[in-house]
Amino acid sequence: MRSHFCGQVDESLIDQPVSLCGWAHSYRDHGGLIFIDLRDREGIVQVVFDPAQAQAFATAGDVRSEYVLRIEGRVRRRPAGTENPHLRSGQVEVVASGLEILNRAEVLPFQLDEPDVGEAVRLKYRYLDLRRDVMQHNIRLRHRVTSSLRRFLEERGFLEIETPMLTKSTPEGARDYLVPSRVQPGHFFALPQSPQLFKQILMIAGFERYFQIARCFRDEDLRADRQPEFTQLDIETAFLDEQDIMTLMEAMVRHLFKEVLDVDLPDPFPRFTHAQAVARYGTDRPDLRVGLELVDIADLTRDVEFKVFSEPAKRPGGRVAALRVPGGGELTRKAIDDYEIYVKKQFGAKGLAYIKVNDASKGREGLQSPILKFLPDAALSAIMQRAGAQTGDMVFFGADQAKIVNDTLGALRLRLAADVGLVETGWKPLWVYDFPMFEYDADIKRWVALHHPFTAPKEADAERLDIDPVGVLSRAYDMVLNGSEIGGGSIRNHRMETQQRVFAVLGIEPQEAQRKFGFLLDALKYGAPPHGGIAFGLDRIVALMVGASSIRDVIPFPKTQRATCLMTEAPSPVTEAQLRELNIKLRKPPEATRDDSSQT
Ligand code: AMO
Ligand code: AMP
Repeated sequence: MRSHFCGQVDESLIDQPVSLCGWAHSYRDHGGLIFIDLRDREGIVQVVFDPAQAQAFATAGDVRSEYVLRIEGRVRRRPAGTENPHLRSGQVEVVASGLEILNRAEVLPFQLDEPDVGEAVRLKYRYLDLRRDVMQHNIRLRHRVTSSLRRFLEERGFLEIETPMLTKSTPEGARDYLVPSRVQPGHFFALPQSPQLFKQILMIAGFERYFQIARCFRDEDLRADRQPEFTQLDIETAFLDEQDIMTLMEAMVRHLFKEVLDVDLPDPFPRFTHAQAVARYGTDRPDLRVGLELVDIADLTRDVEFKVFSEPAKRPGGRVAALRVPGGGELTRKAIDDYEIYVKKQFGAKGLAYIKVNDASKGREGLQSPILKFLPDAALSAIMQRAGAQTGDMVFFGADQAKIVNDTLGALRLRLAADVGLVETGWKPLWVYDFPMFEYDADIKRWVALHHPFTAPKEADAERLDIDPVGVLSRAYDMVLNGSEIGGGSIRNHRMETQQRVFAVLGIEPQEAQRKFGFLLDALKYGAPPHGGIAFGLDRIVALMVGASSIRDVIPFPKTQRATCLMTEAPSPVTEAQLRELNIKLRKPPEATRDDSSQT
């Protein structure tokens, strides 16, 4: 049907005949001549219809936006002054000799080049939304990403192996999506939250290097970077330790960025222990495009009269820290008040103390703050020195339980950097490792695994597992890029004995463990090699690479924030007959679907 793609017609084809297929992107009638921009997946070319070609000209008069066309014609140079430097085909046009309308289109619910189309409309008519340039670009780049990753892994001996979608619940901590079994009434499959247990079994089965581009399902609260159904690049290896795995995986990500974006990522990636990351940035996924850092000052405020600073300094689990903002002296009183309201509301901070540095050479006289009067000279000058405060700066303070201070100053660090213009451009990957093995969940009054229950403790800490869970570190690692957690993994418990001790700390009784993942525990008995791996959030990586603000923009058919698909209207009620066949009786009749989610 076609000799060339529209977007590939250029000066090399001048005077040659072409046949093209595509969509009528735009239509202009210019006193006798009709211009149609014809679009296919490679781009746009301008087609000119002249009354001299009577049949084609007459048919062109019927064309409307998004009609599907096939044209025959000849390429010529555009008249001087009408070139379009933004298009590959911008120096030329096609003079049509024939036109066939392959299909008509109704008036579209929105124009493809309309800027602020609401996301609900975009999702309902996703096939039209996907026709837009930016979405075509995103989905095609996603293909290049998976293809580059596949090639890299294949060259290093990784096998692509599929694992089941209908399976048993895997414990990644979210709620499961369940699928009723017809043949086993009253029994349910779960859709996998990740292939975690299967990939470990594949190591026990002797494949040594596995990967899969795996769909995962998690029924959890959705946000811009979370979908109920998302894609992992899932990896597992045998006989590699965490150093080997991190080195190999960052080489893969460097290769990916070079190949797809022509970007050189650092070699090696910086590595931070969890404790270092939290101390310096208030978070375990720091955005290193921002240079601002937290500094601890508890030792300097322990004995001051100002209780806001002295009490948390003395309390176990407390933290007192300063955040210096270069040039922050410009911030208005109103801006500071807004930050204070924000941290009180978001993180339960009790306030937001600050000191403005008008003139660093003048000591106390050069500073401005409501808290100056509470701080003696020695403490004040030591604090300002440690913070590195200079003329024109603003120093903010957090004093409370460590978590509140970290959340507050960690978030403020990013907001302030954005507001004052201190965010660098570019790519800042890093590793965070030496995570705590457990965290205490006060709601359920139990220890829970920070990563997942199959992660191994650090060897040096394994002895203390049951005695002092709080201090035990794990062999887990996360890859972070520009403040987003793009991947996480760990070395696993390959010895039954350690696995059972971890379950014991987590309060998982032996019977319960056997019922939930007995198959893994059985497999561990028959010669499980040391193994470990990682999973990357593919949607997040692609979203970062294309600069999308939500992973919905790199998923062809995403769900809304209320976990529905506006195009297919899934989920939806099913017939009574289907339910009966599945041995299911509804407790309440189905409610009408509600989807009032705001999509920001
Ligand atoms: P984890 O739960 O950390 O690890 O998931 C790995 C990566 O997947 C991405 N991710 C998500 N992306 C979009 N929507 C979601 N709802 C979502 N949840 C997670 C993140 C995350 O870093 N089995 C382990 C991996 C392992 O130990 O090998 C696991 O699933 O980028
Ligand atoms: P107050 O004595 O409570 O009026 O607090 C004096 C200053 O310290 C105000 O600017 C408060 O916003 C700030 N402040 C109060 N509590 C904290 C806290 N926990 N961390 C940081 N600043 C605080």
